[in-house]
Amino acid sequence: MRILFLGDMVGKTGREAVYNRLPKIRDRLSVDLAIVNGENAASGFGITRKIYQATLDAGADVVTTGNHVFDQKEVLNWASEEDRFLRPANWPGGVPGRGSTMVETNDGRRVLVANIMGRVFMHPELDDPFKAAEDILAAAPMGDVVDAIVIDFHAEATSEKQCFGHFVDGRASLVVGTHTHIPTADHQVLVGGTGYLSDAGMCGDYDSSLGMDKEEPLNRFLTKVPKGRMEPASGEATVCGVLVVTDDSTGLATGVEPLRVGGRLAEVWPTI
Ligand SMILES: [Fe+2]
Ligand SMILES: [Fe+2]
Repeated sequence: MRILFLGDMVGKTGREAVYNRLPKIRDRLSVDLAIVNGENAASGFGITRKIYQATLDAGADVVTTGNHVFDQKEVLNWASEEDRFLRPANWPGGVPGRGSTMVETNDGRRVLVANIMGRVFMHPELDDPFKAAEDILAAAPMGDVVDAIVIDFHAEATSEKQCFGHFVDGRASLVVGTHTHIPTADHQVLVGGTGYLSDAGMCGDYDSSLGMDKEEPLNRFLTKVPKGRMEPASGEATVCGVLVVTDDSTGLATGVEPLRVGGRLAEVWPTI
């Protein structure tokens, strides 16, 4: 199976790049299932139902999020109704939405997608991400209940991301990091057969600070005094992500390679 994952869409330029490019990327790479992280899609902060729907219409099968999931308060009203919308599974109890979902490809293969958040350098109040993964994986063994499993591990620290990858190695098809908005070059199939990448990077303008117009973040570093609002940068976005190819009999990865297209970053297409 061929599964595409795209990193955090940031603002209008990130959304439009994904809307415009995803159908062609799906064709060119013969993608069976596509997942997009949408946590920064609404002006950099959260997502609306309209954006969620437009992302599905563009060819995403599942939209994941992260720490910004509830920035737009309307999400609280609809998150539980949309079974292709994920918030971090280890968010403490009682919040709307779900942390994992089962979807099917057009030809009926079953894919479990999970969204889990790290706690190092961010949100220590969240539940244990390793325990959350254990619970999700125990309920859906690959090659039995599901044909593939993708985990969007939304975290700051590469140490936590790598350890999470090793923890689920052999039990998931792909662990892909999100949140830092900067793509890493460590894509690999781990020893147990799980595809891994510490961070997919963002779908956003890289003439920026993490997708936001660079003037205000730079001002805050220089003066420690906020001057204005953080606004998404508006130059052409680079669509950043990763393609994993899995063995349908085991669910494990046979290859994992990055994708970067458009905007300022050098173009990279998977060769698998
Ligand atoms: Fe993000
Ligand atoms: Fe984030």
